[in-house]
Amino acid sequence: MKYVLGIDLGTSGTKTVLFDREGHACASATVEYPMYQPHNGWAEQDPLDWYNAAVSTIRTVLEKSGVAREDVVSLGISGQMHGLVMLDEKGQVLRRAIIWCDQRTAQECDEIHATVGKARLIEITANPALTGFTLSKLLWVRNHEPELYARCAHILLPKDYVRYMLTGDFATEVSDASGMQMLDVPKRRWSDELLDTLHIDKSILAKVYESPEVTGHISDSAAKLTGLSPATLVVGGAGDNAAAAVGTGVVTDGKAFTTIGTSGVVFAHTDKLAIDPKGRVHTFCCAVPGAWHVMGVTQAAGLSLKWFRDNFCAAERESASAMGLDAYELLNQEVAQSPIGANKLIYAPYLMGERTPHLDADCRGMFFGLSAMHTRRDLLRAVMEGVTYSLADCLGVLNEMGVQPAEMLACGGGGRSPIWRQMLADVFGCPVATTVNTEGPALGVAILAGVGAGLYPSVQEACAAMIHQNAAQAPIPENQPKYAKVYSLYKKLYPANQALYKELAEI
Ligand code: XUL
Repeated sequence: MKYVLGIDLGTSGTKTVLFDREGHACASATVEYPMYQPHNGWAEQDPLDWYNAAVSTIRTVLEKSGVAREDVVSLGISGQMHGLVMLDEKGQVLRRAIIWCDQRTAQECDEIHATVGKARLIEITANPALTGFTLSKLLWVRNHEPELYARCAHILLPKDYVRYMLTGDFATEVSDASGMQMLDVPKRRWSDELLDTLHIDKSILAKVYESPEVTGHISDSAAKLTGLSPATLVVGGAGDNAAAAVGTGVVTDGKAFTTIGTSGVVFAHTDKLAIDPKGRVHTFCCAVPGAWHVMGVTQAAGLSLKWFRDNFCAAERESASAMGLDAYELLNQEVAQSPIGANKLIYAPYLMGERTPHLDADCRGMFFGLSAMHTRRDLLRAVMEGVTYSLADCLGVLNEMGVQPAEMLACGGGGRSPIWRQMLADVFGCPVATTVNTEGPALGVAILAGVGAGLYPSVQEACAAMIHQNAAQAPIPENQPKYAKVYSLYKKLYPANQALYKELAEI
């Protein structure tokens, strides 16, 4: 019997799952780690935390499953995108990684537009300069920590750092590399023009592969630490969203999913390159060789609920742990007791600035309409609804580009909540379904690993055979006009406060 391993390096933790070749999960393990926020809008993580989490979860799934290491033919890694890991010439980490939701690089984005030209930048990288993307982070280090920059011999994305530690190879693949903003996205290779214009030495970049291609195998030292065999192959893998697409079967035109993880994403596959000229959604290479995807991003989706849970729901957390439940289950029950519109309370989820549709690093979250009658459950409901409106903004931009999915798949931690899925169905106005296997990105990269090792003929054929959907939740007609009223007011909050956000940032 042959098995494939999927490692999903998320923002709150790393989850590793061992699958058989039919896509059944045999064992899974998760290890969490912290995110450091030394200043408002900054976000960093320690790359060694990611590697240690990968090693310990791999060991655990091998032990739990009892599968012989020789039977694990290949593995894939999916990762939070855009993070900047800097290594010196000995492969030692130079500083904490600056991760995707860090917003410190507004000036560097201006610098990129001024040097390259915004229109040319969008032609090459399919996106305008964004604070979240790796390029502006690299320039920030060059501008603010020149002595570290001078010692930098390699830069890697989060999952590619774990690959380096497992295999010794400096490699990446097109889906994640698209989010570094140094890749020529239409041509699927590093842009010499961009690198020359910005005086970036190409030798610091890793070799680019397609996502299912084999990039190497487990090194002897990593084999000892993890319990894997040195013969286990490692494939390109994918950025977390491209991996979730494979794991939910969104690999052909017309298919789309919404994920509510730390960030929230509305994602549609496209066989033809499609770019939003206003840059409000991202166009990236997808994990299916030769295809792309467009996606809108809400910076703080699940993060909004997690922030609320961690700061204001100590009682629920305690009761949940006493009852052996997940605190989110209790929170879902509370939300159900507040009416649509949360008694006239609206939440804007801009805790970490916002990408789609505002592209604003300075905006911040807010509750609008607080009254003495509101209870914590209204605030909770408003948080879930506000995230849903932000995701509807993402879908709206995709619709403007002619992408009109007939049905939406929901995934990520938030996608497991029936009440949140119903909100999505009611606000999006289309049925929302889940897949039977809920391992999303981990399954996605395990499928890529299987394709790379020759277990399946292609990504699409593997998905057609292995991914099955549950019945969809349809929109509830009487709910829709109620949400529509609140959503129309929600849409006015950002423009009404845009200038004030700048003032706040300058205080
Ligand atoms: C996508 C993005 C996030 C991160 C973290 O552009 O920044 O989805 O990958 O999940």
